[in-house]
Order: sequence, then C-alpha cells, then structure tokens
Amino acid sequence: MKRRDFLWSTIAATLAPRVSLATGTPDLVAQTVTTQILPEGSYPPSELLGFNGSVPGPTLGVKQAETFSIRLRNDLTEGTAVHWHGVRLRNDMDGVPMLTQDIVDPGATFDYRFSAPDAGTFWYHSHYLSHEQVARGLMGPFIVEENEKPDVDHDIVAMLADWRFDQTGALADDYGNMHDVAHAGRLGNYAKAFLPDVALQKGQRIRLRLINASVDRVMPLELRGIDGKVVALDGMPLATPRDMTGLVLAPAQRADVIADVSDTVEILLVSNSDTFALGALMIDGQVPKRSSPVAPLPPNMFAVPDKVSQHLTLKMQGGAMARGHGGDNIWAFNDNSDLQSAPFGTLSRGETVRITLVNDTAFAHGIHLHGHHFYELAEDDSLGDLRDTTLVQAGAKRDILCVFDNRGRWMLHCHMLSHSVGGMKTWVQVD
Ligand code: C2O
Ligand code: CU
Repeated sequence: MKRRDFLWSTIAATLAPRVSLATGTPDLVAQTVTTQILPEGSYPPSELLGFNGSVPGPTLGVKQAETFSIRLRNDLTEGTAVHWHGVRLRNDMDGVPMLTQDIVDPGATFDYRFSAPDAGTFWYHSHYLSHEQVARGLMGPFIVEENEKPDVDHDIVAMLADWRFDQTGALADDYGNMHDVAHAGRLGNYAKAFLPDVALQKGQRIRLRLINASVDRVMPLELRGIDGKVVALDGMPLATPRDMTGLVLAPAQRADVIADVSDTVEILLVSNSDTFALGALMIDGQVPKRSSPVAPLPPNMFAVPDKVSQHLTLKMQGGAMARGHGGDNIWAFNDNSDLQSAPFGTLSRGETVRITLVNDTAFAHGIHLHGHHFYELAEDDSLGDLRDTTLVQAGAKRDILCVFDNRGRWMLHCHMLSHSVGGMKTWVQVD
C-alpha cells in the first residue's frame, strides 16, 4: 500500500467537514502532562503524555446514534492519531496511520466526526507508536449513552492501567524493549484504577464501567463492596446479566457492572491468589436498597449472521519459546509480520465469516478487530459474547463469527501493544 494513496483519500474525505466545522468543535489536545500517578508524598508527580491536561484524557462521548465531533490538536513533539476503540464508525475516522489516515504531525490538527451506533463503554487511545504513547498516557474513556438510561444513582468510569516507573518515579523509557516484546509485553510495576471523586451511600445502585487501558497486562479482577451483575462486555449488553466472579479483562477489554453498594467499593487486581488494590470508592451514609433485580441493558442493533461464506484461519506465531515462522519480526500471523500490502481477508460487505484463531505461541494474546464486533463461538458453535477483543490463551484456539458489514480497511491485531509493535498485526478489506 502506498502512503500517497491513503493520504489522498483521507484529505478528500475530511476536507468538507474541516471547513464547515471551523467553529464550535471542541479540541482534544495531545500534550505533555505532569500529574500524580504514584502515591502522593512518597513520589513526585510523573511526566506523561495526556489529553487536555489530564491522564486519562477527558471522558468523551455522545448519545447513541448521534454525531460526535472533535478536533485533535497535536502539541507533542512527534506524530499521533486517535483511535476510537470498539466504536463501529466510518473507516476514515478510525485513526490508524498507514491504513485510514495520515499521521497527525506536531502542530497539526485532525477533525474526527462520526456517528456512534452502539450505546456502551468504549475508549480512545493513540494508534501511532501506541505501545509507547498509550504506555505514556494517551488514552481516555469514550461513553455512548443509551437513550433509555438504566436505573442507577451513579455512573462511574474506572480506567485501569499499569505503569512501569523507575526509582525516581519517572516512567521507565524502555518502550518496546526486545525482552518485553518477545514475552508478555511491558508489564508495569504499579497499577491503578482512575476513579472519579464521588460520594457513595450504602444501598445505592451504581454502574461501574471498567476499562483495561494497560498496554499489555491481562487483569483478573475482584470487586468488593458491591452486589450485582456484569451487564455488558466490550460495550455490548449481555442478554442475561452475569455474576462478577472470575472477571478477567485483557488489554482493551471492558466490562460494565450494575450493582448495589454494600460497603467501601474496592477494585482489586488478582494475581496468583494474591490481590493488589487498584482503587476504592468510599461510602458515607445509607439509603434504602432497591428491591428490583439488575435488568439487562437494551441491546444494540446487530446484523444477524448468515450462512458462513468464508472460513479463515489466523495463526498466531512467534515470541520466545516458540517455533520459528516465516515473518520478519518477532511475532507473526500466518507467517507474515506487520502490515502487508495484501489484506488477510477480502470480504464483500455483509458477508458472514468464521475465523479460527489459533494460538501457536507460549503467551496469551488479546485479538482485536477494528470497526466490528464479532461473536465468540462456543464448542458447539452456538453464539457466545459479542466482543471487539478476544483473549486466546497460549496454545488455545477460538472460533469467532463476524458479519463484516462496515466498509473499509480494518486492522486486526494483538492488543498487547508490545506484541503488535513486534509484528502481530494484519488487516482486512471490506468492500
Ligand atoms: Cu484499541 Cu487497534 O486498537
Ligand atoms: Cu499478543
């Protein structure tokens, strides 16, 4: 794929809105930010990258089916681009340099304008040098509101991330080091839930939107102080709300929980039967508890899968402790590393495709498809959860089913961003 081609098509597509939106479009400014991430008192504030002065960036969003627009301004000393993770948007707004838009150079702007068809919990993050820019803080929540809001007292976004700091409290700047890339990625030495400053009362019902914004860390979670259900995964409502036990979020995955507060609300990261507190919400006072059970959220509209027209296989290869492969980077899909000029799949719009994801490596991978959600298939081929990112354990296999109904060039990659930079990425073409 020649850089000139996509540059031209991006300019053609964005010129009109850029002119007509000269006023009234809010800015999203990518910039350096100095902020306290590590415990105050023990460590100084950290130098990060953020949006509009904060890490995570501001909570952005829109009402379901309404048009969102924002002007990205790049005040960094390097390029960037913003991806709206999980939103089934038009392709030229997807924020992927080399595939859907040009890099936004330092000092330049780019207008993002799209309608968001699904209500739910999404997020935005840099998609340029993302293993480094996300690790440095270029990410934030993106919330699409239901037209009929669920009955809760508080709607709380909990952005979860882990960070690697050095002794002085500065971010370790060994982004993309070979050892990390070839193993489980850049695992941090400090993890945290970014929570709003809300006063909860015992008995209140809350919606908790958990987003794993870590570059590489899979997060098994335990939630204390609430009784309730998981109502959505990756933004998509579950037909039947599910118990909160055993909740695991791979990088980029989300879970919405609706629950009643019974005590201080704690979010814990579980590792080897040990737990680490990511964050807490205090309670003050008490109100009578609701007697109604947690109801499912209204479903989003999805195309009904048709007969499978193509069955593709995506084999994950490479990394440490695995056999070789035909790609020329550390990781590969089907013997190819990094973005090739030919897509992994060429599909006509509306096609139902089955993809067998085969993990032939010694590590877990969270495979993410842009512009679509897909069904995880159960052993008996019944439709499981609708997701945009699926975690496939080392040596395991998972089949997914996707109706490719969104035109364009869509990335398909491992969302362990260190694996992605190490070559585990490809793309599909939907005509
Ligand atoms: Cu969350 Cu290709 O991105
Ligand atoms: Cu991976």
